[in-house]
Amino acid sequence: MRRLRKDSLRPLVRESRLSVEDLIMPVFVDENISAKKEIPSMPGYYRIPLGGVAEEVGRAMEKGIKAFILFGIPSYKDEVGSSAFDKNGVVQKAVREIKAEHSDAVVVTDVCLCEYTTHGHCGVVRDGIILNDETLPILGKTAVSHAEAGADIVAPSGMMDGMVKAIRNALDAEGFQDVAIMSYSAKYASSFYGPFREAAESGYAFGDRRSYQMDFHNSSEALREVELDIREGADIVMVKPALSYLDVIRKVKDKFGYPTAAYNVSGEYSMVKAAGKMGWLDEKQIAYEILVSIKRAGADLIITYHAMEIADFLG
Ligand code: PBG
Repeated sequence: MRRLRKDSLRPLVRESRLSVEDLIMPVFVDENISAKKEIPSMPGYYRIPLGGVAEEVGRAMEKGIKAFILFGIPSYKDEVGSSAFDKNGVVQKAVREIKAEHSDAVVVTDVCLCEYTTHGHCGVVRDGIILNDETLPILGKTAVSHAEAGADIVAPSGMMDGMVKAIRNALDAEGFQDVAIMSYSAKYASSFYGPFREAAESGYAFGDRRSYQMDFHNSSEALREVELDIREGADIVMVKPALSYLDVIRKVKDKFGYPTAAYNVSGEYSMVKAAGKMGWLDEKQIAYEILVSIKRAGADLIITYHAMEIADFLG
């Protein structure tokens, strides 16, 4: 076995490769700030003001990154998340800013209510219950408003049943047949999202997300979620988080052979950063090894906060 492990031969027999084209970079756009602001729990990651978003995307594109997923921190929140579908909402404006400067950037938008509601849940709430079907039309409207602004892909992340179908129907009815859907199909109720909630100010006022996000003890259930999303019209399916869920990524890829994305989430990023700061791990090597492992598990695309630094690392 050792004959093929020489430096000169290893690349010839390499089974997985990581390319900068596999990466989607998250961008937190904050309507309430005028200068970029570091997120304390995510060292090296920033909230970007609306005026700086095109420049930030430009910097990443120079490094070869072509795709971006936008999260908004809006100027107002209410019970039903009106700022999520406001034509002049933060994400809608950010998409227009980016497309005006970089028409070739692939813009993905996160479609969810948690950043836009006062209670911080991903759906409409009544009597402490997160309502499923009442939430669907709002997700449809939000996706259409993103498409109108120029989004290439919409990515529903709220784990409401039927969200993909509702969004597909709404997009088609408004003439956006060519806007793709990347569904957060198998999204687990995970403590790995902690730093994101600080980044996006999307913590919840009561309860938790276990009535809609998946139980991490399960993996066959993920296949049912993915199957439903494919039937409802998803173009790309996603497993989230990634690192503790490599088995799920592999199952999904083997069973459906669909374009499969994995979300290397905030907590996974922050753990690497914290250990790197302490001098306990080689941060860049570890990030690379983690991302390669996600590809080896079967992911085609990876959403990752390491995108910029890995682009440099890959040279
Ligand atoms: C919104 C959303 C979340 C993440 C992406 N979209 C948070 C949540 O469900 O609580 C998490 C991303 C991350 O942790 O990096 N629904």
